Amino acid sequence: MRRPVSIAPPKGKLGVLTPGMGAVSTTLMAGTELVRRGESTPVGSLTQMGTIRLGKRTESRIPRIKDFVKLAELKDIVFGGWDVFPDDAYKAAAKAGVLDSRDLAKAEKFLKTIRPMKAAFDQNYVKNLQGTNVKKGKTKFDLAEQLREDIRDFKKKNKLDRLVMVWCASTEVFMRPEAVHQDLDSFEKAMKTNHPAIAPSMLYAYAAISEGVPFANGAPNLTVDIPALEDFAKEKQVPIGGKDFKTGQTLMKTVLAPGFKARMIGLNGWFSTNILGNRDGEVLDDPGSFKTKEESKLGALEYILQPKVYPELYGKFTHKVRINYYPPRGDNKEGWDNIDIFGWLGYPMQIKVDFLCRDSILAAPIVLDLALFFDLAKRAGMRGIQEWLSFYFKSPMCAKELYPEHDLFIQLMKLKNTLRWMMGEELITHLGAEYYD
Ligand SMILES: NC(=O)c1ccc[n+]([C@@H]2O[C@H](COP(=O)([O-])OP(=O)(O)OC[C@H]3O[C@@H](n4cnc5c(N)ncnc54)[C@H](O)[C@@H]3O)[C@@H](O)[C@H]2O)c1
Repeated sequence: MRRPVSIAPPKGKLGVLTPGMGAVSTTLMAGTELVRRGESTPVGSLTQMGTIRLGKRTESRIPRIKDFVKLAELKDIVFGGWDVFPDDAYKAAAKAGVLDSRDLAKAEKFLKTIRPMKAAFDQNYVKNLQGTNVKKGKTKFDLAEQLREDIRDFKKKNKLDRLVMVWCASTEVFMRPEAVHQDLDSFEKAMKTNHPAIAPSMLYAYAAISEGVPFANGAPNLTVDIPALEDFAKEKQVPIGGKDFKTGQTLMKTVLAPGFKARMIGLNGWFSTNILGNRDGEVLDDPGSFKTKEESKLGALEYILQPKVYPELYGKFTHKVRINYYPPRGDNKEGWDNIDIFGWLGYPMQIKVDFLCRDSILAAPIVLDLALFFDLAKRAGMRGIQEWLSFYFKSPMCAKELYPEHDLFIQLMKLKNTLRWMMGEELITHLGAEYYD
């Protein structure tokens, strides 16, 4: 990737489109509205609250990220989306039960203005879901054409300058890349013949790329992680990325595991279990959708701990992940981790983590950051996989010849160095030898 020669300023309005207007998406919409009205604080958002050090530690140059790289402002964001249920964002947010009635009431008028467009949906890919707000079309290609039309109409109606799309819809069943995913020609033919390897999420990604709209995948579905769409994104100069927002348990895993490795502490086993009761939990109750999530959650430890490089420490650990749908908890997930570690001379120790988290409260600021950073990438002429945004994903997409980087701290360094690099600032290596000359 070449360094951007220039970055177009974020003038005009930015449309943020989410396939899926459920818990995560409506929490993002309501929260953004409350923040831009000055009634709340964007906690959890690096783009809104984070700073970046520039130059030497003695220079005291620490601007906010959003001022350093000129991100779109919250007041310029216009939300839109698709869902298989016809509920407006207010009703959907009330059903999701993430926000309390006081916050919901404050955002009510605004949320009621956001009504979902008809979804490209097929129950074969999300078994535990049935809805009526669904597009009709003879072929999957027709559905993709309808999505393209939605994007164009939305842009025109709202007088938008630019758009980004972030997949916030349900997790689809597990799929592996197949022959029809290998190149654009085969992919388009497969859409026209209703091939089962073309999932609805791929139609959204295809439509976004066709319209020059960056696409980020917040779920673990294969979606845009296939050669056909990667090549298409490069050809159309569109940034893409995924997969699966890194929130609760995996966030903790990618914080703790690098710590063990840093101190050369060994690992015998890591058992993770969750209870959650929102619609996401209901969808994940289907073994097909759970398999997609499980694969996404399992990868992180292997990559961080490098068992092949450290066989005595990480050569034999057991890693299990369980998700249990338990309605009384709603969006307030509880994630338990039992971690069996060992230290000097192999003596065993245990760590127990009980994270009483709120899924969508953790996910909403991630969607906001992704929308703003993907818009930045597009304005900077960057295209294809945006690996520097791995920070936000459980299962980061990366170039074929690479392995994904999961360590949260390396991911953050990569993100910030990419911003410095884009802006022509010196990269920070943390060497610091010059202070002791
Ligand atoms: N909240 C988190 O912490 C978190 C973390 C990582 C990933 N995710 C993923 O983000 C996604 C959204 O999570 P959520 O809690 O908002 O789920 P949710 O079930 O509340 O919302 C998803 C919405 O997508 C809709 N939908 C399903 N298929 C669709 C399609 N083809 N087109 C349009 N709409 C469709 C559903 O009707 C539903 O309203 C899920 O895939 C979830 O796995 C969430």
